[in-house]
Amino acid sequence: MERRFDRSVEDLGNIGAFEHVNVTVPDQRLATLFYVDSLGLTRDPYLKTGLDNMWVNIGRNQFHLPTNKPQVVRGVIGIVVPDRTALVKRLERLHKSEGGRFDFREFDNYVDATCPWGNRIRCHFPESRNGGMTLGLKYLEFTVPIGTADGIARFYRQVMRTPASVSDDRGRHAHVPVGIGQYFNFRETADPIPEYDGHHVQVYVADFSGPYRELLGKGLISEESDQHQYRFEDLVDLETGAPLFTIEHEVRSMRHPMFMRPLVNRNPAQDNRNYQPGHDA
Ligand SMILES: [Fe+2]
Repeated sequence: MERRFDRSVEDLGNIGAFEHVNVTVPDQRLATLFYVDSLGLTRDPYLKTGLDNMWVNIGRNQFHLPTNKPQVVRGVIGIVVPDRTALVKRLERLHKSEGGRFDFREFDNYVDATCPWGNRIRCHFPESRNGGMTLGLKYLEFTVPIGTADGIARFYRQVMRTPASVSDDRGRHAHVPVGIGQYFNFRETADPIPEYDGHHVQVYVADFSGPYRELLGKGLISEESDQHQYRFEDLVDLETGAPLFTIEHEVRSMRHPMFMRPLVNRNPAQDNRNYQPGHDA
């Protein structure tokens, strides 16, 4: 019998990859303890190696952590890391050493770790529903005002040309695919939403000029960075122009010199006491 496949499962929207999330941090020492030593991630050894900024690799993705007043994503940052037991051990050690400035909580399917300045990192583990991801930035889940999910999904469909949809699964939210196995959720909440503090996300798009023309026409381009990159901040209602939510997007073309840049990822289980030759990466 002829084999049948659902070919549409393989389709990608215009956003090919969500690469980094950028939050400023006031103390690189604490940031190192949390992101590198405790989450088990790897400082980029090539770029931003000083005290004014740190880039932290997580699979093919990065956290960007410039030094400045703390910024906090209005929602949850979903990551995948390889080993739950080892992660919890490192978080426990850190929790004791820093007198509880960090926090974490274990759940059935994930572990929530809170950075010293309040960013919530939801750590998931490799399993089939994580699409084969063993280490990486999987999603951002933003909390947005009631009644904005439809408009946000429309904005991503029409302006960014990515197949966003609206779902009522565990509350109404816009679901926006932003790469292979990666997505943004914009989940409606009646709770108060903190003021936007300037943190940003970065995505690579295949059609670079199409969204640019739309954004420019609506007066939404906030930065003309260079030939390969522009930025916008506001997600708006396409009929009224009213802002629905603000999150700066650093939009890069796939011709950007950093697209698909190889990133070094260490094996955090290696230690001088249990060292195994050949298992550093
Ligand atoms: Fe950035």
